[in-house]
Amino acid sequence: MNQIKVKIKEVIRETADAVSIVLDPADLNYKPGQFLTLTFNIAGEQVQRSYSLSSAQALNEPPTITVKKVAGGKVSTYINDTITAGTELESFAPLGNFTIEPKSSQTRQIVMFGAGSGITPLMSMIKTLLALEPNTKIALLYANSNEDSIIFYNQLEQLQKLHANRFQVIHILSKPSSNWVGLTGRINKDMVLQLIEQIPVVYANKAAYYICGPDGFMNEVKSGLSLLKIDSTNIHFESFNLTKGSDDNTSIDSEVTIKYRKSTHVIHVPAGKTILESAQAAKVNIPYSCQGGVCSACMGRCTSGKVKVSDEQSALSSGEIDNGYILTCLGYALTPKVEIAIE
Ligand SMILES: Cc1cc2nc3c(=O)[nH]c(=O)nc-3n(C[C@H](O)[C@H](O)[C@H](O)COP(=O)(O)OP(=O)(O)OC[C@H]3O[C@@H](n4cnc5c(N)ncnc54)[C@H](O)[C@@H]3O)c2cc1C
Ligand code: FES
Repeated sequence: MNQIKVKIKEVIRETADAVSIVLDPADLNYKPGQFLTLTFNIAGEQVQRSYSLSSAQALNEPPTITVKKVAGGKVSTYINDTITAGTELESFAPLGNFTIEPKSSQTRQIVMFGAGSGITPLMSMIKTLLALEPNTKIALLYANSNEDSIIFYNQLEQLQKLHANRFQVIHILSKPSSNWVGLTGRINKDMVLQLIEQIPVVYANKAAYYICGPDGFMNEVKSGLSLLKIDSTNIHFESFNLTKGSDDNTSIDSEVTIKYRKSTHVIHVPAGKTILESAQAAKVNIPYSCQGGVCSACMGRCTSGKVKVSDEQSALSSGEIDNGYILTCLGYALTPKVEIAIE
């Protein structure tokens, strides 16, 4: 896994509980929708977290992440309250499959559902597509609690004015002020049906859907889209919540050999435990980030024996699975001996 160094150039307050962090180097290569996995040193403890890039490389914007404070959250609170320009951080190179490849000749209809900080990867995609795909139409349905918590409100308004015939934003607030004239409520599957009706172009089956937000929100949106019989291949999503894999009861006790950075470690992986948690228990340092099958930072290749990866994963493509790639964070041993190579 490639490590890079980044330096904080600027901290920009977006809302009372969200900041954007502008990073150097300016020439970082990433796809719209990808994220960085950064290591923070907080009170002597090293912690890793993933943050999506909200900037658009296609517009020559400097790489920027946007972080919303989570109640009681260690890193999001540190970033919102303490971090300053000049701080240097380690990061994995940009990762993630929740991306979109712009092609100027393409005409697409795209419907995005975002909630709270889930706007970040969508923002990068929106800016890129509006700039590079002149015929593509995008609708963004963006859920927040109140007017003040809407990240990028002004930028989204400007983009709507600039691309009035092909970019539409519908805000939905769960606890708006009494002055709010827009849509109110929490998104559930019935509301999804009503929202789709508000989009003037006949999207339904033709559109591609991109969803990002907390798991509960995403499940409601997915249920609504399944009522509309949207083909699941047209639905793309990324979760920021990390559901740890439920213990697996088909795995067995195993001796797992891990080859990583010219070192070889042999660890005991008990039945029902993941390879990553067993490596951590044995104080063997292997890469990881989300621990929830989202980011691919813990990816390795099973070169001998058999490993089962929980279905909750969304980081590996079917091609990667066919080629023996596994995730240690959701990977369980199925044979008494297993060998894994981590690049
Ligand atoms: C691929 C990926 C991309 C991400 N991109 C962004 C981004 O662009 N902007 C952003 O703000 N966050 C993003 N996140 C979430 C981020 O990585 C952290 O999980 C989040 O900042 C909370 O970390 P923390 O250390 O503050 O909270 P922790 O100290 O880890 O957790 C404190 C409490 O908050 C809960 N919690 C943790 N994460 C969340 C969450 N996302 N929402 C609600 N409750 C939570 C925990 O269950 C726990 O109870 C992303 C996550 C992933 C996996
Ligand atoms: S640590 Fe993110 S997929 Fe395993």
